[in-house]
Amino acid sequence: MDNSIRIKELNMVYTGLADDDGTGLGVLSNVNLKVQANEFVSILGPSGCGKSTLLKIIAGLEKDYEGEIYLGNDNPKYKRVPVCYMLQKDCLMPWRSLLSNVLLPIEIKKGDLKKAREEIQPLISEFGLAGFENYRPRQLSGGMRQRAALLRTYLMDGEIMLLDEPFGALDEITRMQMQDWLTLVWGKHRKTVLFVTHDIDEAIYLSDRVLVMSERPGTINGEINIDFERPRKREMILTSQYSEYKKSILKFLKT
Ligand SMILES: Nc1ncnc2c1ncn2[C@@H]1O[C@H](COP(=O)(O)OP(=O)(O)O)[C@@H](O)[C@H]1O
Ligand SMILES: [Mg+2]
Repeated sequence: MDNSIRIKELNMVYTGLADDDGTGLGVLSNVNLKVQANEFVSILGPSGCGKSTLLKIIAGLEKDYEGEIYLGNDNPKYKRVPVCYMLQKDCLMPWRSLLSNVLLPIEIKKGDLKKAREEIQPLISEFGLAGFENYRPRQLSGGMRQRAALLRTYLMDGEIMLLDEPFGALDEITRMQMQDWLTLVWGKHRKTVLFVTHDIDEAIYLSDRVLVMSERPGTINGEINIDFERPRKREMILTSQYSEYKKSILKFLKT
């Protein structure tokens, strides 16, 4: 299956707001982007510039826009295209165990839960959650909750992963562990990833390419290819190449 993303001349205006003078709130303006199959692309942009809205549109949850979107050959406006989508919050259900939270996508599509419970064991280990299957979310650390939410996202059908600031609420050490872990899993299983973040270092560390958005109404201001080899090393932060990437990103963020 072709799991690329193509967006052409996307415009989005929220209308019918309380203090609307009739023009509405322009949120996205002429967004054009392409993500190749199995590429890891980050979107970096100021708060409120429309990043979450963009992901919602790609996931097919928001259809009141102008422009064209293709996931492979399918247009999510007219056809349900399965994607793995993770919201800004972990959204685990507090009354469910870790395992039954993670298996929710299987439950929703009325799959074979018994079989899924057996098949998921290797993934539970791979995601660093073995031994905690019966814990409730409040009994888990922030990193574990986030990994559980990611695993659940991963189990949704689809070869395109949309992640909305998944590590935004974590402390720096946990965040670095999660980044390494995500890179590892992505290296092994490969999906197309569109990763929203407001952390410049995170974007550089994880991505093949970083797209920088402007203030609202958001548009793509700049694009930086990150040519560091994989697996990435934290020490790359000390190189002049890294400083150049960061400088370009900062320049695009200011315009
Ligand atoms: N459902 C909605 N109705 C009206 N306005 C919205 C809605 N969702 C988001 N917005 C507005 O759109 C803008 C962009 O929001 P969002 O996409 O969440 O930004 P970001 O994720 O980049 O911080 C904000 O000004 C926000 O208030
Ligand atoms: Mg957001």
